Amino acid sequence: MALSNTPNYQSSTYGDGFADIYDDWYQDVTDIDGTVEFIMSLAQGKKILELGVGTGRLALPIASTGAPVSGVDSSFAMLDRLARRDRSRLIKTHLADMAHWLPTGPFQVIFCAYNTFFNLVGSNAQESCLKLVGQRLEPNGRFILEAFVPSNSPDLPTRGIECRHTANTTVMNITIREQTSRLIRGQSVEINEEGITLRPWRIRVRTPSELDNSAGRHGLRLLERWEDWHRTPFTNNSDRHVSVYAPIRA
Ligand SMILES: C[S@@+](CC[C@H](N)C(=O)[O-])C[C@H]1O[C@@H](n2cnc3c(N)ncnc32)[C@H](O)[C@@H]1O
Repeated sequence: MALSNTPNYQSSTYGDGFADIYDDWYQDVTDIDGTVEFIMSLAQGKKILELGVGTGRLALPIASTGAPVSGVDSSFAMLDRLARRDRSRLIKTHLADMAHWLPTGPFQVIFCAYNTFFNLVGSNAQESCLKLVGQRLEPNGRFILEAFVPSNSPDLPTRGIECRHTANTTVMNITIREQTSRLIRGQSVEINEEGITLRPWRIRVRTPSELDNSAGRHGLRLLERWEDWHRTPFTNNSDRHVSVYAPIRA
């Protein structure tokens, strides 16, 4: 499969490709306890919605506190994994593209963690998701977005390859970065005794101020920005952010 032209890349492609290994590879990729505590501090016991809920890595520990949690994901394979982990059916899940549909709510907290917002790669997808978020929040609700801060350095290589090895497996991650569109296309190539598995992915990255401008166009204003879920102050050197937005009408 050509990296530059992965045919029919859709909103479900990432999840369908990574669902089988997601929990093995990414279970500890971000701070689960910090995320749960932060979300709970803003939810006031009311409804919570996770965008791109995946296998429930974050939503399950939140729902386990007794909070009412819903999740949207465009990948059936991811939601199927979640259903197998969520034996008590704590989470209400919806198979949908978050750029086009979100449950009515209203929600006290809507959150999109671990760079998942960048998975919206269609030309207007991030804008249209923010519009829906603005419509689905309680009047005093909060939208929380966790993402990395993309470097604006023109010196960054536009192509890259990383390799990691375990006893029986080699995983190569090949990336192509398009400077003007901010689209990053990648292919994860897993090689083991059983053969080769290709897992294509794409992200469209945005700086924090670009995100603030988009949010503002859809009635959301930035209330707080932190470097992490423990409210470490965000600085010009921070390489990631946890941003909290509120409806402008609040
Ligand atoms: C990086 S994973 C994160 C999963 C989970 N939030 C976590 O932190 O472990 C991104 C998730 O977003 C889902 N996703 C990607 N594009 C989506 C879209 N347009 N609408 C809904 N879900 C989407 C993928 O299927 C995948 O489950």
